[in-house]
Amino acid sequence: MKQDRAVGNWLLLLALMVFGMVVGGGHARTIGAGFSIQVWRPFTGFIPPMNAVDWNYLYGLFQRTAQYQAHPIGMAQYKALFWPMFLDRCWGRLMALVFLIPFVVFLLKGRIQRKLALWLGFIFVLGAGQAAYGWYMVRTGLYPGVLSPPPEWAAPHLVSAMAILFLLLWTGLTLRNPEPVRIEGAATLRGFSTATVALIWVTMGLGALVATSGALKVFNTFPSMDGHLLPPDMFAQAPVWMNFITNKGTVQFCHRLLATITAITALTTAVLGLRMKLPPATRDLFLLLGGLVALQYVLGMATLVLGNNELGFVHELNAVLLFASAIGARHGLRGAVAAPARAFAPAE
Ligand code: HEM
Repeated sequence: MKQDRAVGNWLLLLALMVFGMVVGGGHARTIGAGFSIQVWRPFTGFIPPMNAVDWNYLYGLFQRTAQYQAHPIGMAQYKALFWPMFLDRCWGRLMALVFLIPFVVFLLKGRIQRKLALWLGFIFVLGAGQAAYGWYMVRTGLYPGVLSPPPEWAAPHLVSAMAILFLLLWTGLTLRNPEPVRIEGAATLRGFSTATVALIWVTMGLGALVATSGALKVFNTFPSMDGHLLPPDMFAQAPVWMNFITNKGTVQFCHRLLATITAITALTTAVLGLRMKLPPATRDLFLLLGGLVALQYVLGMATLVLGNNELGFVHELNAVLLFASAIGARHGLRGAVAAPARAFAPAE
């Protein structure tokens, strides 16, 4: 890949916008707004309701959801759910424009070669798929008894958003610095760093299961689970695999366990990175990784013990920053090689 800082910066901006999307989506989840807009108009949906007729139409659609039927609300409360969700969806449309317009301009200027164009096209298709998936998740609001986006829908949505974030960050950083800096003796650190990125990603998916299965409201003690090492009824649901998605105790236990393994791995990675001679920017990322993972663990414990939804939102946002810092740190190690074998010097 040829160096092109402008194209790289554009992709980093899109990565930042993915973070903005998590802010919007996470906030919508926190206030229970996920099902509030039961129409999908990909191109004209940025036009807000203009008059009473528009509002009544949207409100009427929301009244068909199980959420409304379980907890009826008036128009004023409906509007309070509508606007955050509306802005979140507009943000998604803005992202599509921020992708497409510079893409065409860079392409016409010959700054994006065929291979990169295909690669970026693939990332765009993933983003469009993410939007369509989001819409079908909204439609689950019409299923009987479904009061909020179900875990088996919501967790893959976060996991795939993080995959898109990864691709944007990695490609953007590579375009800014296409030549890896050779770092001798850092092959092991690179292995740890790869494991850290993968572990954070999976832990985030499990966190999404906790958040969307309502597992925040059970076993609000740490490190024990209401005095138990393992949650009782861990395999109460049939088939067994179902427990790993919808059994509150089981998903919370899995998240705690993997989060602990992830935190230990990430901290070890950070310490190893800080003990090595690395380029200053990469070193800073390892420092950030260590700080953010410690903060993430503390936030997770506090969210759980206090059973606090808003703190859970902060915990989610910090997870995205943690993931991004781990990706940045790993990217800085592309040129890592094993330490050269010491030449044998015969004793005199
Ligand atoms: C490396 C460490 C961790 C990572 C990467 C992580 C990641 C996440 C993410 C991304 C979510 C939110 C998903 C969403 O809102 O869709 C979440 C939720 C949650 N996490 Fe963690 N977590 C970590 C550590 C912990 C720890 C140590 C605990 C508790 C001991 C914990 C408890 C929770 C709880 C209770 C929720 C649900 C919050 C809510 O319902 O709003 N997490 N986690």
